[in-house]
Amino acid sequence: MNNYLEEILLKLESKRPAHAKKLRLNTNYLNELYVSRANDFYSQYEKHLLRENTDLDFSIDCYLRMLDDMAIERMNFLRQGKYSSVSLMEVEKCIYNNPDMMCYHMHGLALAQFLWFDQYERYSFFADSLAGYAKSAESYLEIGCGHGLYCYTAIKLLPENVKFEVVDISDYSIGICKGIINDPKVNFITKNVLEYASNSTFGFITIGEVLEHLEDPLVLLKKLKDLLSDDGISYISAPVNAPMIDHIYLFNEVQEIRDLINQAGLEIIEEKVVISEHVSQQYADKFKVPVMFAAFIKQKQQ
Ligand SMILES: C[S@@+](CC[C@H](N)C(=O)[O-])C[C@H]1O[C@@H](n2cnc3c(N)ncnc32)[C@H](O)[C@@H]1O
Repeated sequence: MNNYLEEILLKLESKRPAHAKKLRLNTNYLNELYVSRANDFYSQYEKHLLRENTDLDFSIDCYLRMLDDMAIERMNFLRQGKYSSVSLMEVEKCIYNNPDMMCYHMHGLALAQFLWFDQYERYSFFADSLAGYAKSAESYLEIGCGHGLYCYTAIKLLPENVKFEVVDISDYSIGICKGIINDPKVNFITKNVLEYASNSTFGFITIGEVLEHLEDPLVLLKKLKDLLSDDGISYISAPVNAPMIDHIYLFNEVQEIRDLINQAGLEIIEEKVVISEHVSQQYADKFKVPVMFAAFIKQKQQ
C-alpha cells in the first residue's frame, strides 16, 4: 500500500512548510498502527476522490482553506469569548446548505482525522474498543457522519449482519460519506437529527463532534437516550473551546459535557480527554486551547 500519510505531509510541506513541520512534531510519538490506520483510510478516501475526478492535491487545498477559516474563527473567539454563529439557522443557510463550503470543509476534516493527534486519539479510542462495546448490537446508528471515517471503521469491525443507518443534516456530508464508504448496506438519511424518528432502538450509536453544532445539546442527548436500546452503548465526542465555522454551542470546560450527559439520564463508562496541543492543562485553560472529549456512555442505571 502507498504511504499516503507521508505523501500528504510532503505535499503540505511544499504548500505550508511551518504547518507541516508542526504536524510531524505533534504526531511523532504515534506508532505503526497509526500509520497503517491512516494509510487504510486515505487509500479508501483517494478511491472516492478518483471516482469524483479529483485527487489529493484538491483535498490538501481544501484542508488549507479550512485552516484559514479556523485561524479567523480563533481570532474572533479570543477577542469576543464566543463562537461567531449561535443559531442553527445561520449555519444551515451559510454552511450545511452551501455545497461549496461543505465541500472544502468536509474534505479538510477528512484529511485532519490523521494529521491532528487529538483527532487520531479520539479515533483510536473508538476503534480500539468498538468491537467489545458493540458485541451484542444488531443495529448501528451514526448521527452526523461527516466524512464517514467512523462508519467506515464500524463496518469493518462489526459483524456482517449488523444493520447500519446514518443521519446527517447536510446532503454534502451524506454524499461524501456514501462515496467514501462505498457500501450499499448502509441506509442514509438526510435530516436534522432532531426531526429524525425510528421505529426501533439501536444497540450502538456513534455521535462524534455533533453536540457543538446544536443550539441546545441537551435536547440531542435526550434524543440519544430515547434512540438507544436498554443495554445499548454510545460513543460520543465533543470539543471544548474549539471555534469552527459551524460550531454554535460553546463548551467552556469538559465538566459541562459530563454534566449534560448525566442530566440526559446517561452515564459515562469510560472517557478520554486530549488537549489539542502538547501543553499542560493549566496552559490550555489559560489560553483556551481546544480540548477533545470522547466517551462510551450507556443508559443510567437506576
Ligand atoms: C464535524 S462533523 C463530524 C464528523 C464525524 N462524525 C466525526 O466525528 O469526525 C459534524 C457533522 O454533523 C452534521 N450535523 C450538524 N448538525 C446536525 C444536525 N442537527 N443533525 C444531523 N447532523 C448534523 C454536519 O453536517 C456534519 O456532517
